[in-house]
Amino acid sequence: LVTVKELYRKTDSYLDKEVSIGGWVRSIRDSKAFGFIVVNDGSFFEPIQVVYHDTMENFKEISRLNVGAAIVVKGTLVATPQAKQPFEIQAEEITVEGASAPDYPLQKKRHTLEFLRTMTHLRPRTNTFQAVFRVRSLAAYAIHQFFQERGFVYVHTPLITGSDCEGAGEMFQVTTMDLQNPPKLEDGSIDYSKDFFNKHTSLTVSGQLNAETFAQSFRDVYTFGPTFRAENSNTTRHAAEFWMIEPEIAFADLEDDMDLAEAMLKYVIRYVMENAPEEMKFFNSFIDKGLLDRLTNVVESEFARVTYTEAIEILEKNNDNFEYKVSWGCDLQTEHERYLTEEIYKKPVFVTDYPKEIKAFYMKQNDDGKTVAAMDCLVPGIGEIIGGSQREDDYGKLRSRMEELGMDLDEYGFYLDLRKYGSTRHAGYGLGFERCIMYLTGMSNIRDVLPFPRTVNNCEL
Ligand code: 4AD
Ligand code: MG
Repeated sequence: LVTVKELYRKTDSYLDKEVSIGGWVRSIRDSKAFGFIVVNDGSFFEPIQVVYHDTMENFKEISRLNVGAAIVVKGTLVATPQAKQPFEIQAEEITVEGASAPDYPLQKKRHTLEFLRTMTHLRPRTNTFQAVFRVRSLAAYAIHQFFQERGFVYVHTPLITGSDCEGAGEMFQVTTMDLQNPPKLEDGSIDYSKDFFNKHTSLTVSGQLNAETFAQSFRDVYTFGPTFRAENSNTTRHAAEFWMIEPEIAFADLEDDMDLAEAMLKYVIRYVMENAPEEMKFFNSFIDKGLLDRLTNVVESEFARVTYTEAIEILEKNNDNFEYKVSWGCDLQTEHERYLTEEIYKKPVFVTDYPKEIKAFYMKQNDDGKTVAAMDCLVPGIGEIIGGSQREDDYGKLRSRMEELGMDLDEYGFYLDLRKYGSTRHAGYGLGFERCIMYLTGMSNIRDVLPFPRTVNNCEL
């Protein structure tokens, strides 16, 4: 079987020749002596039209096919300069690989994204989700290519862990114990020393702490894998299981970190626009008008950079219009992030140097004693897509911050050790892969860029 992509990309070498394709029926209409089937074979965004005639011995069987059926078509590829598609197949033989029942739920009309969310197993057969998931696949490849070209080492960090990198306590527990009836300590608390790992473990919220150990050996490394957060926020930007890209670079500071993040985002945008032109045109027409112009602009201009303190001054002037009023020390909500990036800068913006109280323990403390060398990258339409920082590399400062926060120093002994044995300046960030895909496609709900979304109250398939 040849792919439809190949027919589109190398049309000249196939025209007027015999070809065979396999795919799924998108629509079918027949008259007495002939019929048309639109087939999508999954290799390419555009479908292909098949024309068949009553000279075929199974003409009746074919005419009765329902949408969704899987067929193999053998025939001649002929040019159709007047038609919507540049060519079609004049079928000589059509074999039914798998018929489709008449109650196939996806019809030619456009279904809402909400409806399609109830059809996780069939929505990949629609235009929108074919486009989303091909872009997702290409973006993942582009990210690996970006880092590999620059000599970064890809490190696989564990999914099961004893630490809470972000310290937010939003972890899914991993246990083999019967939690109805767990072994207890004398004070009544659960005795995790009886558990599988001989301690309390969870699914990771971030691979960063592990990645840092590799950065102190390989210099430039990255992770790219699933992360888990039991955040009880039912929003369009939060999932319980999402993928994160986390580079970690040694002999580098916050500026280097932002330069890397900006170069990476531009690389991915450029790669996807070049390698998925049909899909991107589709998003631009049907999902988010103006998307392509905006992305082109992002690639061609510099991201804005502003400190948290400056950002608060800007935001305070607009406090009347915010649901949550801002003042120095507060965490930025999505409405504030979007105001900054959509109304003030109209492009991606890095906000840096946040108050230490609202950021994680590992961030490098600035000389002012109040802020840390953090950076968040905010983009129009979404808000935060990247969170990162320079890391505290001073043993004493890190240790006292951890003690201040009441952290278990035994559990994080390895992390402190790194500051004892050849500690370097270093920095890193985490890009939320789904938010990146939302940004690339204009899709507005994280559930629609995850192949099998896991969100509060939802773990289908
Ligand atoms: O800002 P966060 O929490 O940073 C970290 O986890 C750091 N350890 C990263 C690092 O420095 N290596 O998360 C990073 C990004 C966010 O900016 C956001 O894009 C995404 O991960 N993210 C989520 N995406 C989907 N659903 C959720 N529940 C998310 N939580 C964070
Ligand atoms: Mg963050």
